[in-house]
Amino acid sequence: MVYLSDIFIKIQLIYRKLSLSIQLYMVKFMYLTKEEEKMYNGEYGEALETCMNLLVSLGDIYGAEKLVPISSAQVSGVSYKTIGEKGLEFLKDLAEKGVKVSVPTTLNPAGMDLVRYKELGFPEEFSKKQLEIIECFKKMGVEISCTCTPYLTGNVPVFGSHVAWAESSAVCYVNSVIGARTNREGGPSALAAAIVGKTPCYGYHLDENRSPTHIVEVEFETYAKGKTKFEFGLLGSIVGKIVKNGIPYFKFKKAEHIKTDQLKALGAALAASGGVALYHVEDVTPEAKKGMPIVQENLERITITEEDIKNEYEILNSTTGAPDLICIGCPHCSLDEIKEVVDFITEQNAKFKSDLWVCTSIHIKSIADRMGYTEIIENAGGKIVTDTCMVVAPIEDMGYKNVATNSGKAAIYLPNFCKSNVIYGEISEILKKGMQ
Ligand code: F3S
Repeated sequence: MVYLSDIFIKIQLIYRKLSLSIQLYMVKFMYLTKEEEKMYNGEYGEALETCMNLLVSLGDIYGAEKLVPISSAQVSGVSYKTIGEKGLEFLKDLAEKGVKVSVPTTLNPAGMDLVRYKELGFPEEFSKKQLEIIECFKKMGVEISCTCTPYLTGNVPVFGSHVAWAESSAVCYVNSVIGARTNREGGPSALAAAIVGKTPCYGYHLDENRSPTHIVEVEFETYAKGKTKFEFGLLGSIVGKIVKNGIPYFKFKKAEHIKTDQLKALGAALAASGGVALYHVEDVTPEAKKGMPIVQENLERITITEEDIKNEYEILNSTTGAPDLICIGCPHCSLDEIKEVVDFITEQNAKFKSDLWVCTSIHIKSIADRMGYTEIIENAGGKIVTDTCMVVAPIEDMGYKNVATNSGKAAIYLPNFCKSNVIYGEISEILKKGMQ
């Protein structure tokens, strides 16, 4: 979080102001328009000054030449579990100054279901703090969407446009699958960009930083059968560890079968096990379509076999115990994924003894309600949980220890963030483990 680097940012600002005032012009700083200078110097109030100072510091640190206008923002740092008291104070301070976002801005998952938090047993004090955080974002005009899949609920930038998104899986999706441009923003820098309407132009905003660093030959083919997403989580988990914050270029044998839910799972795991913010899939993602000469011949090559996938499956499974919570929906479920759960329940006439959370956005749930999916899941003993997920909710304080998931990202995060033992597998596999 940027809160930890407050001191670094202050030093950078003093350095900038000092260097400009003594005319050290050999030191290169980001160019600001007259209007931006006014914001930066506090002529439009303290809140805009704070936001602009943050953006200018980042721009100077990373060598941006200028700010670019953004078409949307996506803000993280919403759960009280992740931002704590210091984050809440920062948000209150900003909201009380009356500042508002200037571009469409959506919000990452919160620490609880904003409607059913009492019924689901969220701790009272936690719920109170969480609602205060939500109130701050509401005051600032941020859409209380509380989802990590804003691209399924209306925040869909056009190809090539600049945005400032923060949630790492959404960053990977918007850069790779949509072809818009963002860096991996922190919660505060995405919020500052949303308020100012601009972001520093460096990193993934520039053509020269969007070319692949590694070629990944994928030799397994089971994904071609259609539904499987969990192999994409495993693939992302393996490749993220190798390329770290590089840009992998995937070559699949049957790329035409790949679905957006699989790309969603792949990007989330790549971002969680490494620091990947952009990947390409040959003939699938928009910057890797036929005829786009982005691949250099001398790149490092990686081959992923079925054996590698099996090994990673063993690594991510940390317990053979029964799950006390099954979580599906990391990143948040699409309607198709919810239907997969419904189909399983219908075919197996399933009833669950473990708790089951199907995590999604309020938008997707409203369609699931209409389709009768919610009723089927809840009659089987599960819940469609909105606005949150198993990682940012305080599940460790709610008594959950063994957590089953079909998500590579969740399997990577759960042990550290929630002190959970992980049971990892395909949707039908983990649902079976929780049946009566
Ligand atoms: Fe989303 Fe939570 Fe996973 S925010 S990507 S469901 S860890």
